[in-house]
Amino acid sequence: MKILAIETSCDDTCAAVLNNTSVLSNVISSQTDLHAKWGGVVPDIAKRAHSENIEPVISEALKKAFNISKKENVTDYIDEGMKSIDAIAVTLGPGLAIALGIGVNKAKELAKKYNKKLIAVNHVEGHILANFTKNKFGKPHREIKFPALAMTVSGGHTKLFMMEEIGKYTLIGETLDDAAGEALDKAAKMMGLGYPGGPIIERLALNGNSDWLKLPRPLANQKNFDYSFSGLKTSFYYQIKDWPKEKIAEKMSDLAASYQKAVFDSLIVKFKRAINFYMPTSLLASGGVLANQELRKELRKVSKEMNIPIFMPVKKELNTDNAAMIGTAGYYKALRNEFVEDIDSLDRDPRAQL
Ligand code: KG4
Ligand code: ZN
Repeated sequence: MKILAIETSCDDTCAAVLNNTSVLSNVISSQTDLHAKWGGVVPDIAKRAHSENIEPVISEALKKAFNISKKENVTDYIDEGMKSIDAIAVTLGPGLAIALGIGVNKAKELAKKYNKKLIAVNHVEGHILANFTKNKFGKPHREIKFPALAMTVSGGHTKLFMMEEIGKYTLIGETLDDAAGEALDKAAKMMGLGYPGGPIIERLALNGNSDWLKLPRPLANQKNFDYSFSGLKTSFYYQIKDWPKEKIAEKMSDLAASYQKAVFDSLIVKFKRAINFYMPTSLLASGGVLANQELRKELRKVSKEMNIPIFMPVKKELNTDNAAMIGTAGYYKALRNEFVEDIDSLDRDPRAQL
């Protein structure tokens, strides 16, 4: 089955083409530079950029997937490419409403114009199922056994699920305030660094002492699987707020390492607690923050210690927002015959729950 997937839930305009779960093309038009000077995602800017980019990105994905020879314009590539597509998958939510709307409307328009089936995908399920996405050679070959414990850590979500099988999830824990990626982004902003802060903090932390600044691990001792990062952020803020710029600059690596460690410790503590409680057969982790090598190392340690295999998307672009993961989730929904029944009445769902 050939699927065109569209993802516009935040600040990246993404389209991908998959053959079942194998990626034929995965195009991402990042808006990072547009938002960077504001220190975060500005909804109006995101909306405009998505509107401008959506057609070129879809056209590029189809062109790459099917090796379409040179055409006059974007519409001609889409006309040609859509002939080979069986279904369209689109992110319905959760995410930024006006951003989601652009992708959902385009998917509806294409589904009607070219008479294709439409699949509505939950963004968080997309992140989880990025672990099932393969390249065009069918790699990596993974035998993921259930029940699995799945952790998704991004700029918008920090969630733990028990997964009985593909399509069956029970939310067992989540952040009560900020997401882990958001917590990293906010700390970077406090230190006068760029956006997104996660990768910058990772780089700085490489040369820092993670025990240098004493920071709390909120909820660490509570016997649940929830997270909280706002107390950590506040503690960090009060500790450095009166520091002169020069001192922050001088201690930047130690600050980054200490803060990153506090965020990751919180993630690991609850991950371990959930493993001990639910005894899963596999571990899955995904989301933008999983682009971080230190977190991946810590998670691999847990996997080894507990003797349970862990799976994380190998490629960076399958961890951060992308449409290939939406196509993968869409494929499994198609197998279950979960298509949109009434295309006209389909609406974005910014608060969608999995
Ligand atoms: O999954 P994603 O692209 O978008 C959401 O669904 O939110 O995640 C973006 C988040 C941002 O907070 C960003 O700072 C974080 O992922 N991130 C990282 C790294 N790369 C991206 N955090 C830590 N280390 C990284 N290398
Ligand atoms: Zn995401």
